[in-house]
Amino acid sequence: MSDIKTIEGVDVRGKRVIVRVDFNVPIKDGAVGDDTRIRAALPTIEYLVNGGAKVILMSHLGRPAGEGFEEKFTLAPAAARLAELIDAPVAFAADTVGDDARAKAAELADGSVLVLENLRFDKREKKNDPAFCEELASLAELYVNDAFGTAHRAHASTAGIASLLPAYAGFLLAGEVETLSGMLDAPKRPFVAILGGSKVSDKVGVIDALIDKADTIIIGGGMCFTFLLAQGKAVGTSLKEEDWVERAGDMIEKAQAAGVKLLLPVDVVAADAFAEDANALTCSVDAIPADVMGLDIGPETEKLYADAIAEGSTVFWNGPMGVFEMKAFEHGTRAVAEAVAANKDAATIIGGGDSVAAVNKFSLADEMTFISTGGGASMELVEGKTLPGVAALR
Ligand code: 3PG
Repeated sequence: MSDIKTIEGVDVRGKRVIVRVDFNVPIKDGAVGDDTRIRAALPTIEYLVNGGAKVILMSHLGRPAGEGFEEKFTLAPAAARLAELIDAPVAFAADTVGDDARAKAAELADGSVLVLENLRFDKREKKNDPAFCEELASLAELYVNDAFGTAHRAHASTAGIASLLPAYAGFLLAGEVETLSGMLDAPKRPFVAILGGSKVSDKVGVIDALIDKADTIIIGGGMCFTFLLAQGKAVGTSLKEEDWVERAGDMIEKAQAAGVKLLLPVDVVAADAFAEDANALTCSVDAIPADVMGLDIGPETEKLYADAIAEGSTVFWNGPMGVFEMKAFEHGTRAVAEAVAANKDAATIIGGGDSVAAVNKFSLADEMTFISTGGGASMELVEGKTLPGVAALR
């Protein structure tokens, strides 16, 4: 982390500063549904505004086709929400590098803010197209990347532009990299990692990396059934990835050899259908009936996991324990969220994506030490991959 320069202390007064933020937020009825990512960028935005910079913000939202404007992906609602949060006018350009963007960037006053339209309306953004990088860079004199959530993408606004202007990290990006790298490099022990989610294939890199770093690994979510299969158990109609059973078995062995405790469910809540009103039962993992699917961890497992979480001095959590979107199968995820929240002696780090949604759903966000704004980005960082958006700042 010390090898990336932040914007702190740089003289920005009167300078045009183009900032890559991650305003990829949910939009509902033309307004921002969850403004967490916009709030997370405020320290950098306010620092620049207070420093007298002319602030130009750029972001993507969703995955438009790249063939021009699409109403449902406009960043206008995000700009409006930002204006409310900073309690100041925020200009909005109807394009990204076109006439409107250039004119509005040119007329910005010191300490004022402009939001450009969605970068991905131009297909050159995702291609890291050199001409597009030049056009973005020509709007400003300095570049700041504060889009940690998009740091795993090598796009024009996250990678290419950084070599064309003096480039700095914003406070959000720097804080995320520092916290997550610190957790991996020098965790306070015991280090407990909780991993959930539906597929082993999505998490294999992360689990592998954490076996080398953590003291205890707790597995939940749909992917636990592939691990249970590797232990020779029958899992009924539960989600399973046959092709990954052997790999799951290898991970169990690797953890054993490394002296890492790898905890798997001892009981599950299973149902006859993937539905809120399905007929559910609780059973031991040694006796899952052939015609039911596991949709949550069971009460014995909740207790086992809560005890392990209570022992941690560093606790990292990514991925739900069950189908927490359905009330009938949210209990295990809630129990884990509560156990993490209750461990006040530990650094508790929530690694983006669904676990953040779960923590918010159970109103426990304020109880955690750190909540990452990056789902994919935080997983790739934990996996040990180089994040192009961070590497470009080095
Ligand atoms: C995210 O939400 O993970 C980031 O904003 C990146 O979005 P993407 O997966 O569409 O690149």
